[in-house]
Amino acid sequence: MSKITLYEVGPRDGLQNEKGSIEIADKIRLVDLLSASGLTKIETGSFVSPKWVPQMANSAQVFAGIKRDSAINYGALTPNMQGLEAALAAKANEVAVFGAASESFSQKNINCSIEESIQRFIPVIEHALASGLSVRGYVSCVVGCPYEGEVKPGAVAAVAQRLIDLGCYEVSLGDTIGVGTPNKIAKMIDVVAQEVAVEQLAIHCHDTYGQALANVYAAIETGIKTVDSSVAGLGGCPYAKGASGNVASEDALYMLNGLGLETGVDLKKLIHAGNFISEKLNRRNQSKVAQALSSIS
Ligand code: HMG
Ligand code: MG
Repeated sequence: MSKITLYEVGPRDGLQNEKGSIEIADKIRLVDLLSASGLTKIETGSFVSPKWVPQMANSAQVFAGIKRDSAINYGALTPNMQGLEAALAAKANEVAVFGAASESFSQKNINCSIEESIQRFIPVIEHALASGLSVRGYVSCVVGCPYEGEVKPGAVAAVAQRLIDLGCYEVSLGDTIGVGTPNKIAKMIDVVAQEVAVEQLAIHCHDTYGQALANVYAAIETGIKTVDSSVAGLGGCPYAKGASGNVASEDALYMLNGLGLETGVDLKKLIHAGNFISEKLNRRNQSKVAQALSSIS
């Protein structure tokens, strides 16, 4: 059976956009419940400026509180050396640098140009690799930018290739504002795959226009084997107005199960994690699969 890795980004991408305060204990419990579901990759937090993303300011405490499973990579975003040092102190297993295919988004999100961001990532990646961590790269706005509109696939390919050349083991292609449709996603991946092996690519779809699951399917059809998702469909990017959550992990898993693709993740346990955090946030689990299965169980 063909294998797909579900890369859970809920505790980071899912929670970073929440305005209200969330108890550290609840963040820790969320990660622990996700760990129990069979996931092998969990983005647990973000070592960014607390002025820019206040919700992630307690990521070190979250890392300190979780029950580690040696089979799981607990990752964190690290935009610069300061972030990397914090991630090392927190004993993250993996870090991620995050760039963009659009100049305006790069400026709004990390306060520098695309080229400056690459220069900033060089020492981060070098030092992370020398410290034994694996490094993931993100490229945001792979089909559309909230400030510039349509983004050309060639611009995505150029940044993805540089991130791989610098030592990232994988680049996650982010449809940050969820404007893609399956044909655009597939075309973009085809162009990027001319520069970077498809095995080194992941797909990261926000669901703003209800296209995320269809886009994930299109990406899998191109040969992509890693799918980012967010439990309960939580999430968004604070610097991309209107960006809603990622494809819900429960919905992605249900589809992958239906396609006969192996993930090693238990749907019931994942739904349990999604229902837990949704209840803490005082809202209904946004996953259709979780809603359907919770109402009949
Ligand atoms: P800057 O203001 O240009 O940075 O921000 P600076 O180096 O000039 O430092 C300014 C202040 O920030 C200083 O503090 C630093 O100590 C502090 P002050 O002296 O003023 O008190 N600082 C930090 N504090 C903690 N940890 C750090 C850190 N770095 C500096 N690592 C910076 C540049 C990159 C730091 C800032 O723009 C930032 O933190 N941006 C993060 C934005 C972010 O997290 N966005 C959401 C994640 S990306 C996303 O969601 C997209 C994704 O999901 C994929 C997709 O959907 O497409 C990944
Ligand atoms: Mg995202």
